[in-house]
Amino acid sequence: MIPVSASYEDEWRARFGETTGVPQDAPEVAWLRELLRRRTHRRYADRPVAEPLLRLLLAAAFSASSKSDFQQATVIRVNERDRRDRLAALVPDKVFPLAGLCVGYPAAEGHISMRLPLDVTLHTDRYDDSRLDDAVTAYDLRRDARYSLPREQQRQPEVFGYASFYGWSEDKARQATRPEGQDFPSYLRARGFTID
Ligand SMILES: Cc1cc2nc3c(=O)[nH]c(=O)nc-3n(C[C@H](O)[C@H](O)[C@H](O)COP(=O)(O)O)c2cc1C
Repeated sequence: MIPVSASYEDEWRARFGETTGVPQDAPEVAWLRELLRRRTHRRYADRPVAEPLLRLLLAAAFSASSKSDFQQATVIRVNERDRRDRLAALVPDKVFPLAGLCVGYPAAEGHISMRLPLDVTLHTDRYDDSRLDDAVTAYDLRRDARYSLPREQQRQPEVFGYASFYGWSEDKARQATRPEGQDFPSYLRARGFTID
């Protein structure tokens, strides 16, 4: 039986930078703790992943849902750097790479990226943005108190100048002024796809 009355306060604080609304008397689910503490890793230790563990990870990955049970996904394991580069250059007709993933052991602990509070991201029955500005400002300050983006990481200072306070929302607003993915339709057409 799953024990009830677990506290997720530490994980909640790590994810949101505060504990407002942290559920009390929730069931103890270790996997949920893992999820709350998960983070993206971009650097890996020089330590191979053992074959049995890799197969276990892939088995778990292939346990994900699949549209109409078509089971569309396949994985190509590429171990050699040269082969990886040659494969990238091929991309035959009617094929486009969906995602590249790497598997390994993190080189460092990494950090948990703070999320917007549920006040902002969870709505009941109707979307309500009446308190959005205040909530985002508070989030910007909370996030900045944990980790301030250095001045040299401010985007497009030649357009927007340097902000004295450069929070998450300023960063995302600047990022969104630059369109992304514009080349993708022509890339697909060049590989034989029709998207009309
Ligand atoms: C669809 C998608 C595309 C992403 N693309 C990149 C990428 O190109 N490069 C990268 O370093 N991280 C990429 N990420 C990771 C995000 O930057 C990361 O999830 C985000 O900064 C929040 O950090 P966290 O995952 O540690 O919580 C991507 C994530 C998603 C969901």
